[in-house]
This record gives sequence, structure tokens and C-alpha cells, in this order.
Amino acid sequence: MIEPFDNLYNGRASCTGKGFVGAPRFLRVHCKIVMGGTNPYIPQPKVTKPSRTFKVTFANVGKTVEVSPDSLTSGTGLPGSVLDIALSHGIDVDHACGGVCACSTCHVWIKSGSASCSEPTDAENDMLDLAPDLKPSSRLACQCVPNGTEDLVVEIPSWNRNLVREGD
Ligand code: FES
Repeated sequence: MIEPFDNLYNGRASCTGKGFVGAPRFLRVHCKIVMGGTNPYIPQPKVTKPSRTFKVTFANVGKTVEVSPDSLTSGTGLPGSVLDIALSHGIDVDHACGGVCACSTCHVWIKSGSASCSEPTDAENDMLDLAPDLKPSSRLACQCVPNGTEDLVVEIPSWNRNLVREGD
């Protein structure tokens, strides 16, 4: 999974462990293409899937979406994660590693409803340590799975929005 990236950049950058050290933007985009699914090298968080419809407001995008338990289709990030919800509704959030908890580009702030979200794992907290403008409300969108018992308000940092989509 990592080999094409290492070959392209002669081993001078890594897309594992502490993120994309030394990688220019075009290689981070390449890495996004070759990665995806779940990360077999970290314990998966315990998540409770929603049993009812709830709302997620992406505050600084000006969009509120209704999330029904069966409506998530992006296939990126943990199923039902904030990243999955955003992408399923046409809202761009950068996700350089493909949603496998190997970067911090999907950093978001959960402004309300965080008690209904899965607990961050050590792996998520390690990646969050690399994120700019870290706050108590910070989460990785690909790892944060709401259980639907509360509506959510999410803020996407401006530098994580409106980026070129994979394949563009
Ligand atoms: S997309 Fe890389 S950690 Fe979430």
C-alpha cells in the first residue's frame, strides 16, 4: 500500500507514523489515491451506530444535513464518521490519507454534540497532535463517529475546505 509513494519519492517521505513528513502537495494527493479503507496497524475505535435520523450542521459552510442510519455512502473514513457524512452530502473536507487515521488533514472542530461522538483513540490523538490550531473540540473527521443521540455542529478549518477533489 505504501510502496508506490516511497518509490515515487525515493524514500525521502513517509505516509505512515507521523504523517506525510517531507512530502510535497502532489505526492500527498498521490498517497490519497493509493490509500483507503481501514488502517490495519491501529486498533479500531469502539463506535455505536445511530439508530435514528439526526442533523449535522457544517457551520462555516452554511449547510445542515439530515443523516439517516442508512444514508452514508462515501466509503471514506470510518462508516458514519463526520468525514463520511460530509462527503456523502457533497461537502469537501481534505482527507489526504484516504480516511485511515494516518494524517491530520481532516481536522475539524465539533462545536456541539461531541458527547454523542465515539471516543478518540490514542492513534487519533497522536495524529491530532500534528494538526494546526488544536482545540479541546478538535477531532479527526474520519475517526469521529456520532451515535445520533444529539445533533452535531461542526466547523471545518478554512484550510481544509474547498480543495481539489481526488481525480480532479
Ligand atoms: S483523512 Fe487522514 S486522518 Fe483523517
